[in-house]
Amino acid sequence: MRIAQITDFHIGKEGEDTHGVDVRANFLKILEAACAVNPDELMLSGDLCFDKGEAEIYDWIRPHLEKLGLPYRLISGNHDDPQLMAKAFALDPLLKSGELYYRADYGPFPALFLDTTLYAVSATQLNWLSDQLATHSGDWIIFMHHPPLLAGVKYMDDNYPLKNHAEVLALLQKQPGRIHVFCGHYHVDRVVAAGNVTVYVTPSCFFQIHPYATAFTVDHYRIGFREIELRDGHLLTTIRYLD
Ligand SMILES: [Fe+2]
Repeated sequence: MRIAQITDFHIGKEGEDTHGVDVRANFLKILEAACAVNPDELMLSGDLCFDKGEAEIYDWIRPHLEKLGLPYRLISGNHDDPQLMAKAFALDPLLKSGELYYRADYGPFPALFLDTTLYAVSATQLNWLSDQLATHSGDWIIFMHHPPLLAGVKYMDDNYPLKNHAEVLALLQKQPGRIHVFCGHYHVDRVVAAGNVTVYVTPSCFFQIHPYATAFTVDHYRIGFREIELRDGHLLTTIRYLD
């Protein structure tokens, strides 16, 4: 099973200026590059929209995904609207009190998909997460837009972290197995290991943020995606940047 994770497209409305970056062209390029590695599935991990969730942006994205003929999954980022997203992508059955979170295993690898639109894992969702984790003592895969810890990127850690990251991480660290968490949001390529929890941050399709600058600084404009392969009980992952 091979998954291509693409994230943080920040696509604007028709004609909207997205800081001079052609984000629609970037999205089409990343789809082409991701498909070239023959994934079994695509995973879109949030911030599909430039500023806030907009039906017209989801409606622009959907046909591009549909024509690939590949299964895909979605989660919501802080620049999304989970309800509009669910409506546009026919995911209404997965909505719970307006949040889009669900379990969808990758064969023998159990996998959870969280909603951190409001910069936190809500109390209701934390209870659900705890109940889910109790069903399996082995390894887990989790997709969530925000990393569940401070990832050592100064500007993002200081300004835009997951608010209840300590609580979420503590819950994950209570598990006996390994937890592989795949995120976006930070606009960097980074892996952070914290006990049994490994957090893989995937670069954006918009721009990358300088990891050490205190003020907002673009590091570079190369875009990339993450390849995740689940093979013989092993998890292999790498970032592929486009030229
Ligand atoms: Fe984000």
